[in-house]
Amino acid sequence: MAPRILFLGLLWMSLGALAESVHLEPDQSVRVPDGWRHVERVDGSEDVILTFALKQQRVDKLKNLVDQVSDPRSQQYGHYLSLAELSDLVGPSEETLGTVRNWLEKHGIWDCLTVLTGDFLQCRTQARNAEKLLPGAQFHRYVKGDLSVVRSGTPYSVSPQVAPHIDFVGGLHRFPSHRKVLNSTAAAGFHLGVTPTVLRQRYNLSASDIGRHPNNSQGCAQFLEQYFHPADLSEFMYLFGRGFSHHSEVDHVVGEQGGGRAGLEASLDVEYIMSTGANISTWVFSNPGRHESQEPFLQWMILLSNMSSVPWVHTISYGDDEDTLSVAFMQRINVEFLKAASRGLTILFASGDDGAGCREVVKAKNVFRPSFPASSPYVTTVGGTSFKNPFQVTREVTDYISGGGFSNVFPMPQYQVSAVSKYLQSTEKLPPESYYNRSGRAYPDVAALSDNYWVVINRVPVPWVSGTSASTPVFGGIIALINDHRLQKGLPTLGFLNPALYALKGDGLSDVTEGCHLSCIDDIVLGQGFCATPSWDPVTGWGTPNFPELLKALLR
Ligand SMILES: *[C@@H]1O[C@H](CO)[C@@H](O)[C@H](O)[C@H]1NC(C)=O
Ligand SMILES: *[C@@H]1O[C@H](CO)[C@@H](O)[C@H](O)[C@H]1NC(C)=O
Ligand SMILES: *[C@@H]1O[C@H](CO)[C@@H](O)[C@H](O)[C@H]1NC(C)=O
Ligand SMILES: *[C@@H]1O[C@H](CO)[C@@H](O)[C@H](O)[C@H]1NC(C)=O
Ligand SMILES: *[C@@H]1O[C@H](CO)[C@@H](O)[C@H](O)[C@H]1NC(C)=O
Ligand SMILES: *[C@@H]1O[C@H](CO)[C@@H](O)[C@H](O)[C@H]1NC(C)=O
Repeated sequence: MAPRILFLGLLWMSLGALAESVHLEPDQSVRVPDGWRHVERVDGSEDVILTFALKQQRVDKLKNLVDQVSDPRSQQYGHYLSLAELSDLVGPSEETLGTVRNWLEKHGIWDCLTVLTGDFLQCRTQARNAEKLLPGAQFHRYVKGDLSVVRSGTPYSVSPQVAPHIDFVGGLHRFPSHRKVLNSTAAAGFHLGVTPTVLRQRYNLSASDIGRHPNNSQGCAQFLEQYFHPADLSEFMYLFGRGFSHHSEVDHVVGEQGGGRAGLEASLDVEYIMSTGANISTWVFSNPGRHESQEPFLQWMILLSNMSSVPWVHTISYGDDEDTLSVAFMQRINVEFLKAASRGLTILFASGDDGAGCREVVKAKNVFRPSFPASSPYVTTVGGTSFKNPFQVTREVTDYISGGGFSNVFPMPQYQVSAVSKYLQSTEKLPPESYYNRSGRAYPDVAALSDNYWVVINRVPVPWVSGTSASTPVFGGIIALINDHRLQKGLPTLGFLNPALYALKGDGLSDVTEGCHLSCIDDIVLGQGFCATPSWDPVTGWGTPNFPELLKALLR
């Protein structure tokens, strides 16, 4: 008799749990992105890795703190936290830790790693355990080229007891995504290619504008099996690094650097951040987790929370369409940017290479398509320009690919309200209002050249490399140089740059006022989006750096 009662009891309980289970990310797209092919359902005994974003404490306090430490007018400007202080502030409660641990252990999940801030757990378990833990999830393998990932094609849920303690579970839905570097064949023909010499001339970096402080550092993060070859970097510096002191080697590689062929993107990032941020210790964060159920971008964010010493400036060329990500995920990633800001780190993202973007809502009815994290109010977003006259190092105009627009998720932050309102009020030919959200966070914040770079890849110098993946490390290196002067004067690093940047109202930057970026208006794909104007605009932000003036403005 007894076993039967037990059986009925268990069945009842599991049905009850299923009926009540909670979707943490009801708006997360489970669509398989173009280019990925379904292979098979994975065997129940195969391992998957799940990332649990645990509920943090005192996030409002963190927000206030970041507002203070990033605002040059505040007494608290530059009073950053150590990672230990940050952990004390936002670390999850004992209740959260206990509830989640209990839940995992009840499902036989013990193999978990945590981070120094305590707010992420990363656990390895068999697919069949994961599917029981997260009702609704079903793991399948997908491939694209030589990439292979394991994802769930259906939404997951969690038990109602743990739902209040978790922001989201990673490793289920989001496919790896990154900014493509463009190979602009259209521009082929004789043309002045961008090299370190050209950039240093255009942005007024003299031979003595190099890093000198031993504690200064900068880094770039690259995902998707993107590797750089140390030999490419040294050849690049040999060919193009004349006239200024620089390093020819990266100081730290975090994560695994695979063998195989170098990635164009990886080579570009390293070669150019080290050309403007010359003689500054450089780190590369390289696809830290190689397990196929991990999300490389999330993995990088988690690493930042697990290292007490990381570079002061980070440049990243990753981006995804806002509309394909859940609000819960984006909001939590935003808190991770706040955490970085509280430590005095500067995070720069490429604004994207699709102009205002384009999403078809219904047949022949389009809207612009903002990109995340470019649209996060707590990062600095870098757009792109090209030379007005392709044969001369002079004025810059909009690079038509330069990503820009307005978030549909994040409201406009206070620091940019006056600049953006002025743009919206004084610009005559704006796209129809139905295409974008005038109340959202507007980007980019700044820009730099993004067209026609020379890169050395697999030992071969390659021309015509383009994209905001190029402008972002260039701007990052310049911020790292300014940090260098600040450190030499005993001042704190710049940290989250935007409040200070917008307060300059364009000082130290060359305004870009010509050209429009691409987008779609109704069924005319590749139409025109926003246009550059005097002062800030959602195509090139405040403009491109003029190093001596920007240094002066940010050295107070
Ligand atoms: C965080 O760092 C500690 C110490 O280095 C390590 O034991 C742990 O596995 C790391 N956590 C993750 C999620 O990688
Ligand atoms: C870029 O295009 C040029 C000209 O078509 C070609 O020679 C080169 O191999 C391409 N580079 C890459 C990295 O695809
Ligand atoms: C810096 O560069 C700009 C544009 O190339 C130029 O107009 C300016 O005179 C240069 N020098 C300084 C000190 O700003
Ligand atoms: C390069 O930076 C180091 C500190 O990291 C400094 O000691 C050295 O003098 C710098 N090189 C030059 C040429 O100034
Ligand atoms: C560099 O940083 C270390 C550790 O934070 C500190 O002890 C040292 O004094 C710093 N060096 C300089 C020159 O500021
Ligand atoms: C516009 O952006 C705000 C946040 O600034 C958001 O609350 C609202 O839902 C957005 N509207 C649309 C139509 O996406």
